This record gives sequence, structure tokens and C-alpha cells, in this order.
Amino acid sequence: MMPVRRDLHFNLLQQRACDWHAQGSHVTHFFNALSLLFPAGERFFMDSVRNYRDRIDDPVLKNQVLGFIGQEAMHTREHIEYNDLLQQAGLPAHKLDKRLWAILNFGRKVLPHSCQLAVTVCLEDYTAMLASLLLEDATRIEGSVEGYAQMWTWHALEETEHKAVSYDVWNTVLKPGLGRYLLRTGVMLATTLAFWLIVFDYHVRLMIADRKRGGHLRGMWRVIKYIYGPRSWRISAHRR
Ligand SMILES: [Fe+2]
Ligand SMILES: [Fe+2]
Repeated sequence: MMPVRRDLHFNLLQQRACDWHAQGSHVTHFFNALSLLFPAGERFFMDSVRNYRDRIDDPVLKNQVLGFIGQEAMHTREHIEYNDLLQQAGLPAHKLDKRLWAILNFGRKVLPHSCQLAVTVCLEDYTAMLASLLLEDATRIEGSVEGYAQMWTWHALEETEHKAVSYDVWNTVLKPGLGRYLLRTGVMLATTLAFWLIVFDYHVRLMIADRKRGGHLRGMWRVIKYIYGPRSWRISAHRR
């Protein structure tokens, strides 16, 4: 599949930044926590693929890389705007964004390019899995405030479109063998741990900052039901 760069803007209502999801504010902040990961995260993805661009000869893969970078650049631009709304709503969005930039800049300095590309391959796999969760079942987003629902659907569709690109680059530029396999699987284990710890940490910090909502234990249960529960639970859930 050839990823297509689409220059789209979304009309996000600032006053609904903490409560745009149909399943309430705790699910909203789960998505908001993910949004805070994108500007630094997607820049890291683009750079780690760019590091190997000169070693790709296949014209189709070259174009797929261009499409991938174009899509991620658009996502980054839109999520920066989205995250500014979170900051305006009184959430520590800029602080958390800066923290991730610091972590990933450190990774850029100390990790070899192959390891950085492996991190990207793993996280692109995660974003594609999250995207298909969102797209395969309309109850995961329906009834939410329009601009936000459109933006997440757009992002999920494009993540699905370009999900194979970094892995194809990986297979093209790294020598096959046990070393490559161990690097990929080892990085997947480490990235899984780091990714979910950061998502959980950011999610909790956003909920604490949005103190006026309260009911955090009940809210977390709703998030768990939202992510892992059957479809019928999402249909029957009412807003707060
Ligand atoms: Fe993206
Ligand atoms: Fe992506």
C-alpha cells in the first residue's frame, strides 16, 4: 500500500478538551495521553527511517518512505495544536511533551541507528494495533465530539496505511540473521514495557491535573472496560 500525505485540519473545541470522548473524561484522557506522545515520538520515527534513506534503492519503497514521513509530519502538526488545547485547559501538556523529547533525544544520542529503527518498528506496530482497535468497532469512538473523533479516525486510518513501511525498511537495510532477530525481539520487549509505563504515567497525571472530574477509581474501571471489554459494555455505558 502506498501511504498518501493528506494535509487536513480539524476543528477541535477547546472547551471539550478534557471531556470529548463519549465514554467520559477518563477515556478522553487516555487518548489525550497518547496525543502527548506524538510530537516527540513521530519525529523520532521519521528520523530513524531517514537515517537509512540513502540505503534504499527500490523506487517503490523510496516512495513509501516519503509517504510515511509526509503522513507523520501532518500528524505531528495536528497533535501539537491539539496538545496546546490541553495546555490551555490547565493540563501539564507542555511539561509532559518536553519530558518525552528529553527521553527520546537521549535515545538518539546513545542508541545505534539500528536500535532506533527497531524502536520505530515496534512502536509503529503498537500504533497500528491501537488504530485497528479503534477502526474495527464503531463503538470505540462514536458519539464523541466531532472534530476529535474525525482527527483520531484520520490518524488511525493513516497509521494502518503506513504500518509496514518501517518494517520493510528494516528488512531491506539490515542483514538477516540471528543478530537482527534478537535485536528486534529484545527491543520489542523493552519498548513494550517503556511504552505502557509512559502511557499509564501520562494518563494518571492528566487525570490528577483535571481534579474537578473526580471519581478516578470508577473512571479507571471504565477505561479498562473501554479497552478490553466487549462491545456491549461500551454501548451500555453512559456519559459520567
Ligand atoms: Fe502518526
Ligand atoms: Fe506511524
